[in-house]
Amino acid sequence: MKIALGCDHGGLEHKNAIKEHLESRGFEVCDCGIYEQVSVDYPEIALKVAENVAGGQSELGILVCGTGIGMSLAANKVKGIRAACCSEHFSAKYTRLHNNSNILCLGGRVIGVGTALELVDLFVDTQFEGGRHQRRVDMITDIENKY
Ligand code: RB5
Repeated sequence: MKIALGCDHGGLEHKNAIKEHLESRGFEVCDCGIYEQVSVDYPEIALKVAENVAGGQSELGILVCGTGIGMSLAANKVKGIRAACCSEHFSAKYTRLHNNSNILCLGGRVIGVGTALELVDLFVDTQFEGGRHQRRVDMITDIENKY
């Protein structure tokens, strides 16, 4: 599985740790930056990762900013993206099971690196349940297509 990663200046340490962790687990990673501690506008990075996932180059994406919120707001503007901002284990698992989320957003100023790696593992290891949840995800897509 290929996973796209991105962060702004609020999430560089976390993104680099996630990259190392995923690669050590055998995942192929597409690192969309940033690569050094410089101040950037998070929507630029969110767009790169969201387009990578929506275009099918990566199956899932992970974005880290200070809160995870700005990244999720921006990524969710891209058609086909279901980005979920999570800071605890239950949500990271159930947003895959029930929402078929394809991007996990994390807050580098909200959670530590250790928690981030655990949430990443839950996210990438959990499969969408389908069934009644597919109908609900389809309803989200209908809203997306309406506007
Ligand atoms: C950058 O200072 C900060 O606003 C950003 O990382 C993020 O938290 C936005 O949602």
